[in-house]
Amino acid sequence: MKFFIDTADIQEIEELLPTGFVDGVTTNPSLIAKVGRPVKKVIADICALVKGPVSAEVTAMDHFNMLKEGRELASIAPNVAVKVPLTPDGLLTCKELSKRGVMVNVTLVFSALQALLAAKAGATFVSPFMGRLDDIGQSGSELIEDICEIFYNYEDIETEVLAASIRTPQHLQAAAEAGADIATIPPKLLKQLYHHPLTDKGLEIFLKDAAAVGLKIL
Ligand code: E4P
Repeated sequence: MKFFIDTADIQEIEELLPTGFVDGVTTNPSLIAKVGRPVKKVIADICALVKGPVSAEVTAMDHFNMLKEGRELASIAPNVAVKVPLTPDGLLTCKELSKRGVMVNVTLVFSALQALLAAKAGATFVSPFMGRLDDIGQSGSELIEDICEIFYNYEDIETEVLAASIRTPQHLQAAAEAGADIATIPPKLLKQLYHHPLTDKGLEIFLKDAAAVGLKIL
């Protein structure tokens, strides 16, 4: 399973790069707004750091302008994946950009059939939102399971399932169990994954026992 980092914050990305866990980055207009810098500069800076796909989202609503924005974003670096919303215009744009060899991430996916449409439009990635579905009392985990099951049935579907809106370790585990190709994870959650109280407690005991006999390796 690949891990993408869900942030537009350069410092957070730089901090996580040495872990080897950063296979790509996803941004969205809200994350870009949070860092308060021009979108093209932010995406260029991220692409200079990260070799894997970097998602950059269009903000136009109509096909003509989405395509223009998508081409502009794609010209920043070869690893830009243009993010388009799951709308009729978004999928038309997905089809056009994919035909031209540009990676496309179809976002704001909340049903398995929307994901199927995105795959048929040639999406490189489809982003089902787990947390936001849970927010309205539906199951983000079931959505990922359904999409993975459908995609698995068809050898010609090459679209990768990118589990998004991951808010808890349980979301990530459910996405991994369902066979999602990628999970995009907020930096804070990624750091949280290292921790378990029994790891801390076990380490404390090992260190105490080693110190008691003066155990030395070097
Ligand atoms: C990433 O592609 C999505 O935009 C992001 O995961 C959404 O997460 P949120 O629902 O926590 O804002």
